[in-house]
Amino acid sequence: MQTSPDAPKRNAAYAAAEHVKDGMIVGLGSGTTAAYTIIALGERKKHQNLQILGIPSSYQAFQLAVQNGIPITTLEEHPEIDVNIDGADQIDPNLNLIKGMGAALAREKIVASSARKNIFIADEKKKVKVLGENGQPVPIEILPFAIALVQNRIQALGGSPLLRETKGKLGPVISDNGCAIMDATFGNIKDPKLLDNQLKMIPGVVETGLFIGLTDIVYIGKASTVEKLERKRI
Ligand code: A5P
Repeated sequence: MQTSPDAPKRNAAYAAAEHVKDGMIVGLGSGTTAAYTIIALGERKKHQNLQILGIPSSYQAFQLAVQNGIPITTLEEHPEIDVNIDGADQIDPNLNLIKGMGAALAREKIVASSARKNIFIADEKKKVKVLGENGQPVPIEILPFAIALVQNRIQALGGSPLLRETKGKLGPVISDNGCAIMDATFGNIKDPKLLDNQLKMIPGVVETGLFIGLTDIVYIGKASTVEKLERKRI
């Protein structure tokens, strides 16, 4: 177990990587925590000759996979993923999630929905009683043409939308899919599944960062231990 400042993320990521076995198709998540899983898998490839194929959920994950020697495949070639390992922004007691602060939510949800097993990894700060608490927005990926419509419809649902702006370049964040990202705050979200459905009904919404009923296992990394949370798929 690691005890550096990033140790909780790293410990969760390495625990999740243990689920990966020879011959598996592996979903590669995005973000700073999921990056440690890609590094862990790269080390196992190098030292144990682990034979896997990765399906990256973002350009970041793709680059990391290449740098760490993990061969890549596609959902066209392998539509069923054995295990997907990804990070999260908030995790509630039902193991529903908010994801997408790295703007990779649409591909992340497609990869997660293609996986037989989904493992999410995070440090303790991501565990909450209710999704949306502490002002956490729901990231929503939208077609740029629909920005005004989506803003109005989110307000009608009682939310406060904010178009995500880039750092290091003027203008809106553009996702790996050429879409804009709207961060919408709703306060504490009483019924995340209902909100997800309502948002998905807005024309121009490509995907939401509400991940409902997709989780099998969560590893919460701590300084020198890992907490495992499990949910049975219905
Ligand atoms: C990427 O769009 C996100 O869903 C990330 O998985 C999430 O934001 C967690 O990222 P960190 O592990 O960097 O906190």
